[in-house]
Amino acid sequence: MIFSKTFVAALLLVLSAVADAGKVPVKKCTVKANKNGKDDSDNILKAFKDCQTNSIIEFQKVDYNAHTPITLAGLQNVVVHLKGNLNLPKDMATVQRAINVTLNQPSTYATPWFYIHGTDVSIIGSKDSKWGRFNGYGQQWWDIGNRVLRPQLATFNVTGGLLKDLKVIKPIAWGWNLPGKNIRVENHFVDAAPNNATRESTVVRFQPSSQSKPAERLSPTRASPSTLMVTSKPEQFLIRTHLSLLIGFNLSGHNITVDGYYGHNGDDCISVINGAKDIVAKNGYCGFSSHGLSIGSLGRNGANHTVQNVLFKNWTMDGAVYGARFKSWTGGNGFADNVAWEDITLINVSTGIFVTQNYYDQDKGPRPENPTKSSTRISNFRWKNFKGTLGTNWTDGTCISTPCWNYVPGLDEPKSVIFDLYPGTALDLSLSKIDIRTNKNKKNTNVLCDATSLATGEQDTLGFQCANGPFVATPIKNNKPGQGHH
Ligand SMILES: *[C@@H]1O[C@H](CO)[C@@H](O)[C@H](O)[C@H]1NC(C)=O
Ligand SMILES: *[C@@H]1O[C@H](CO)[C@@H](O)[C@H](O)[C@H]1NC(C)=O
Ligand SMILES: *[C@@H]1O[C@H](CO)[C@@H](O)[C@H](O)[C@H]1NC(C)=O
Ligand SMILES: *[C@@H]1O[C@H](CO)[C@@H](O)[C@H](O)[C@H]1NC(C)=O
Ligand SMILES: *[C@@H]1O[C@H](CO)[C@@H](O)[C@H](O)[C@H]1NC(C)=O
Ligand SMILES: *[C@@H]1O[C@H](CO)[C@@H](O)[C@H](O)[C@H]1NC(C)=O
Ligand SMILES: *[C@@H]1O[C@H](CO)[C@@H](O)[C@H](O)[C@H]1NC(C)=O
Ligand SMILES: *[C@@H]1O[C@H](CO)[C@@H](O)[C@H](O)[C@H]1NC(C)=O
Ligand SMILES: *[C@@H]1O[C@H](CO)[C@@H](O)[C@H](O)[C@H]1NC(C)=O
Repeated sequence: MIFSKTFVAALLLVLSAVADAGKVPVKKCTVKANKNGKDDSDNILKAFKDCQTNSIIEFQKVDYNAHTPITLAGLQNVVVHLKGNLNLPKDMATVQRAINVTLNQPSTYATPWFYIHGTDVSIIGSKDSKWGRFNGYGQQWWDIGNRVLRPQLATFNVTGGLLKDLKVIKPIAWGWNLPGKNIRVENHFVDAAPNNATRESTVVRFQPSSQSKPAERLSPTRASPSTLMVTSKPEQFLIRTHLSLLIGFNLSGHNITVDGYYGHNGDDCISVINGAKDIVAKNGYCGFSSHGLSIGSLGRNGANHTVQNVLFKNWTMDGAVYGARFKSWTGGNGFADNVAWEDITLINVSTGIFVTQNYYDQDKGPRPENPTKSSTRISNFRWKNFKGTLGTNWTDGTCISTPCWNYVPGLDEPKSVIFDLYPGTALDLSLSKIDIRTNKNKKNTNVLCDATSLATGEQDTLGFQCANGPFVATPIKNNKPGQGHH
């Protein structure tokens, strides 16, 4: 058959129009692997440059040395198949040197090793547990409590994105940061539990080596407000710190769904932070000694922070300090609205449901004044269908200050619910179908809640008796507006 030139030209035009429309990847690049132990970062950059738009990029089923922090930007309609593994340097000094000089844009806290930016970007790992891994070799960092120049694994700042079947193994610090829009995460795996550590003992004592001054190795500031931090007494040369300090996900973007998470980590499993909107995180398991399914922290230093429309559904929290948590700083501003935690199973959890609008740095002295009497407002919060057991200890091994970072007045044992509200700034909260039991499977759990902090009429719809003492379910008198979206 012979086509006229015009027909062929027209056909090519149509094909390129389809490609431009961003649906059909037409080009394919395979990432070369040096097999001699050399850094593969240049090969990775080359593949992502050659196949920046309308492409498929394939990593072969081998180990790649991702030994330099890289930025993969300008991507448009790219599907990445990570059939192999991406391995960070095993040597801590190499990582620190690389982070010190990288031009990667810092994220909320740390600088990411991988910074990914573009539209319609999918990264698909492997169903095989040995592949599709990001190996961080974090154990050695946790062992000596090294928190200087620690990278976060990756920032996925895309519009239209998919992360599927990926595994984060012993990351140095935090995992994925998702500030983008229209993103799905499926079947995500995190192993960030220190070898041989327990919930009670995630803390090491160590003697800093002579290579560096402790003040350099261990910043005495909080790396993440949701965890422990280092006591600021470096002169004692005996510093206790946290072995792992890891967040599965930081969500600050819009329209993000995490469906399928299996992780063992300290710190939060999911942390929804300022700017987040329309977030669903469902079907997950959070083990080791996590700090829960969290919103916040919000409103630090009076910041005007906002979070809207969040649903956590169908999670098992095993050994966690918190099941569901909201945390905003004393004197905060802004608001969090329309947040729900549903179908949550607790195993050995310190506090099932926790809200504080009065957080402060416990290791920096007493709660600061709040002269403007401001607070990050919360509204339309629902906790529904919680079942399971509390643990035997109200905290885990991450306390290094007195009082502990997670202490609130009256906390002396595991509690089913703690509401530490700022008066009059929490509206339309309700708990229903709550069956949280003691470690011995008894119903007599206790709550902390100050009735004077409740807004007028709030007790009528709260679903439990706001008082320090036993958990007592109360009828919910009328339906609240806005219930049951999502
Ligand atoms: C980081 O860079 C600064 C400034 O160039 C340098 O003084 C410091 O030694 C570097 N630190 C590491 C760990 O490379
Ligand atoms: C994400 O990308 C947008 C531009 O598309 C930029 O404004 C924003 O600062 C980036 N966020 C992060 C955390 O890198
Ligand atoms: C995630 O958010 C928490 C709370 O705001 C912050 O402390 C942490 O540094 C963030 N992590 C990343 C990787 O952005
Ligand atoms: C939300 O993101 C998904 C992709 O995860 C997309 O299919 C959907 O259209 C987005 N919704 C809106 C309202 O943009
Ligand atoms: C765990 O601890 C045991 C006993 O102290 C030790 O022999 C083993 O090497 C440790 N395992 C790891 C992976 O650190
Ligand atoms: C609770 O755990 C902490 C940290 O491991 C520990 O110091 C404390 O002794 C424990 N308390 C009880 C009552 O077991
Ligand atoms: C709940 O999540 C688990 C994974 O943690 C999944 O196996 C199960 O099918 C989910 N249940 C429902 C009803 O979706
Ligand atoms: C706080 O931020 C929200 C959303 O960004 C904005 O609508 C509001 O006006 C801000 N409030 C103040 C007091 O700045
Ligand atoms: C709860 O944790 C303790 C140790 O922290 C452990 O001995 C016990 O088996 C755990 N219980 C369940 C139900 O997992």
